[in-house]
Amino acid sequence: MTEVGIDAVEIWTGKLTLDLANTFAPAKGEDPEKYTKGLGLNASSFPDTYEDIVTMGANAAHRLMEHEGLEPEDIGRIDVATESAFDNSKPVSTYIAGCLEEVFEGEFSHANKGERKFACVAGTQSIDDAYNWIKAGRHRGRSALVIATDTALYARNDPGEATQGAGAVAMLISEDPDLVSLSTEQGYGSADETDFLKPNQQFPSVDGKRSVQVYLARMREALEDFESVAGRVTAEDFAYGPFHTPFPGMVRKAALFAYRHMTRDTAIEDELAEEIGRQPREEAFDNDSEYEDALREYMDGLKRTESYREWYARVIDPTLTISRNVGNWYTGSVHLARTSALKTAFDEGRDLAGERLLVGSYGSGAQAEIHAETVQNTWEEKIDDLTIDEQIERRYDLSFEEYERVHDVHNHAIETEHDGEIEEFTAPESEFVFGGWGRMGERKYRFIE
Ligand code: COA
Repeated sequence: MTEVGIDAVEIWTGKLTLDLANTFAPAKGEDPEKYTKGLGLNASSFPDTYEDIVTMGANAAHRLMEHEGLEPEDIGRIDVATESAFDNSKPVSTYIAGCLEEVFEGEFSHANKGERKFACVAGTQSIDDAYNWIKAGRHRGRSALVIATDTALYARNDPGEATQGAGAVAMLISEDPDLVSLSTEQGYGSADETDFLKPNQQFPSVDGKRSVQVYLARMREALEDFESVAGRVTAEDFAYGPFHTPFPGMVRKAALFAYRHMTRDTAIEDELAEEIGRQPREEAFDNDSEYEDALREYMDGLKRTESYREWYARVIDPTLTISRNVGNWYTGSVHLARTSALKTAFDEGRDLAGERLLVGSYGSGAQAEIHAETVQNTWEEKIDDLTIDEQIERRYDLSFEEYERVHDVHNHAIETEHDGEIEEFTAPESEFVFGGWGRMGERKYRFIE
């Protein structure tokens, strides 16, 4: 049977950074450890004033196509996943294709272009669409380009402000992929929720605390649904567990629940019983509150055990390395987590071929999806090309006052001009930039050599 999956990946981070511990926390009068330890974040990426979701997506896709030696004719679909679209009719993929056609000779005249929306899970849904298109045999030997691109900005003083971020992940979805193949089996947890939404507004309305609970509930349902088709999942089945990472602290919470679930009725639960007792079973309690108290006590004990800490450090922590330094990229976030894990393995010289990943995506509103991926023999060649470390290092470090100006520039409701021109913090080089407005209100772009 033909395998379908991710053939190659490229990442583009916004070119500015806000240091959360040293710049944001003092300006807010907060303890820096709320960010570094509580949320697990060191810094956020922001787009420079000439960057937006189109430039970041087009720059990631351009690099990916160059690395892979692709021409537009090799691409049969371009799907963009975003929560930051600025046009309710013309999809962002058409803007990105227009950019790419400036630098490639051919055109995407026969590619199906679209835009996917379901909060942060839309990137994974776009991969799903590409998978189905290839499996259905409609691709004529071509690949799909999936681009997850977002400027995850919150209103100033919203609690979410600390978790902002901006960047794009471009992925090539192909038959016989070189990076990871996707399982046919997948699980969903889906419900009509109002935890995070943008009803025709740029910045989200967020019930942050509730969104954390909804994430955990939908993820649990998705895992149970996945197990119903793929069989029981245990703690040692997967090399890494990349999960949607709005901030690493969220994944830290989810990982503890996942570990409890995956070790139930296994030798690990037996081994841990001497130290922290067995897992509370609902049927053994007279009422919900007693059961919940017992669960809380068990979880408190579990997170201190050597067994859990070793598993977390090996399977989960490596997925968070990039996120810690760039913040939330919404649709791109889980794809950053996967890349972060593979990059860690590559940097450590670990042989990952044939190993499996358990990938958990989540979108507010709300839906979680879980599937498995198998790392391919050629994975190292695809990770070797990534320049994300250099990109992170090169970002311009904003002062708090500069951050506020950049936030205003990207705020659609504010017109900001400085001396007639919007100030830039970095100099664009070999990349697409925003070039002003067209006669029908469209955004225009150009490539800077
Ligand atoms: N040292 C160490 N940890 C600290 C700390 C300190 N000085 N101060 C606070 N913390 C911890 C808190 O205990 C908390 O951890 P816990 O949840 O494990 O208890 C964490 O840091 C965050 O602090 P909290 O006071 O809860 O932050 P907040 O009220 O400002 O907001 C969110 C947190 C997540 C609600 C907010 O960032 C948000 O709305 N984010 C956007 C929505 C989102 O991303 N949702 C996730 C699902 S998609």
